[in-house]
Amino acid sequence: MGSLATGSSLLTKEARKLHLSPTLQINELVQERLNKGKRVLHLGFGEATFPIQKDVLEAHRQTSQNTSYLPVAGLMKLRERVAQFQTRRLDTAISADNVVIAPGSKPLLFALFDILQGDVLLPRPSWVSYEPQVLHAGKRVFWVETDDGDRHTITASSLNSTYKQAVTAGGNPRIMLINSPSNPTGQVFSESTIGIISQFCQEHDITLISDEIYSDVHFEEGAAPSVCAGSGFNSGKVILTGGLSKTYSAGGWRVGFAIFPSNDFGTLVRNTILAYASECWSAASAPAQEAAAVAFDTSSSMDLYRQQVAALHKQCTVRLYDALRGCGLAVPEPRGAFYVYPSFHPYTKELEALGLFTSLELSRWLIEECGIAALPGSAFGEDDGGLKGGRYRLRMATSYLYFRNQDERYTKGYELLRTALDTEKELELPLLDEAIKAIQEAVEKLKGVNC
Ligand SMILES: Cc1ncc(COP(=O)(O)O)c(C=O)c1O
Repeated sequence: MGSLATGSSLLTKEARKLHLSPTLQINELVQERLNKGKRVLHLGFGEATFPIQKDVLEAHRQTSQNTSYLPVAGLMKLRERVAQFQTRRLDTAISADNVVIAPGSKPLLFALFDILQGDVLLPRPSWVSYEPQVLHAGKRVFWVETDDGDRHTITASSLNSTYKQAVTAGGNPRIMLINSPSNPTGQVFSESTIGIISQFCQEHDITLISDEIYSDVHFEEGAAPSVCAGSGFNSGKVILTGGLSKTYSAGGWRVGFAIFPSNDFGTLVRNTILAYASECWSAASAPAQEAAAVAFDTSSSMDLYRQQVAALHKQCTVRLYDALRGCGLAVPEPRGAFYVYPSFHPYTKELEALGLFTSLELSRWLIEECGIAALPGSAFGEDDGGLKGGRYRLRMATSYLYFRNQDERYTKGYELLRTALDTEKELELPLLDEAIKAIQEAVEKLKGVNC
């Protein structure tokens, strides 16, 4: 019975390391509080909730009777649209043959970590699922350290020192993953950082996976800089992933894509992913792929929707950032996505006096005592036993701060998106105001602690 309880006689070594994702754990705590009739401001979950663009919604409705399995690589029309859209964005030739569609980009990342050889370099902090996926594939993670002083960018010295440490520790780093705009920091890599990362990967023959799921939620004009931009893409070892979940607020429809370069490397990895997909998920759902084909169109109506989405996320996220700074927290300025990543370390004395020593303890205190849900930095690879900044970091998502329910999403949402482009107007975002007030009260509570 003992070994069954720990799973050691039943589960593989890798499976025993799996645990429920921290995002879902926070959701359960939130639900518990709500069931008790208590208020919670939900900054814990990064699910985009804007109303779906009307033509996209209509395409999904019109095709809901299509229950057929689609080709493993995806609907040709959708692959062509993704290719056209990315060719325009990246200024490099991408064809439908380079594109593979899947039920979300998450399974594609999982499959890539599974089929490619070698250990993985991940920036710290990184999205919650990469590390468990890498460990499940039997690989080691080596963290590339970043710092809030430069908004968590990646530097040549952090790359080189991680590489050296990995090799010294007997590791075999052959894969690197980057995510810009970043979940959790909102960082967008500059052209020069992109150059540093590309050069480093080429020098060490490292396959670079670029998770660009937030690429259109960029707070400056135009798309965020990408390691896949320009003619180098088709001669290198870079794979791009993205999808429908963030820009188009359709995470539950489950459509993601991967783009492989037109070279021997790209062909081999793409064919292996197709074989993997054929034995694992078969294909993404037909109505969702039909709708995605409309979403990725380069039409002016879709371009307008994408601009509105980026503008609305920017307004809300930057307002939260300003308020956190105003509270005396250490917080890097977000440049994209819909996250802010503050550290409460300026209040270390007060936190320690309350018996809070880790980001996990801080996040529990915020939910239980202040009704604010945010994810602990430790979920993103931060070392809760490490330096102060890392110990007290939290990720706050703004994506649930727009509508109180599904009804409001559609009755108020389109107007809100329209107004977001009017820079003269301050948007009315009552849930954001409530969240800011709750955070200010929490910080006042901290300031009142006797140390
Ligand atoms: C950084 C990042 N990558 C990938 C995903 C997965 O997106 P999906 O599987 O919905 O395409 C998410 C979702 O939260 C994310 O934040």
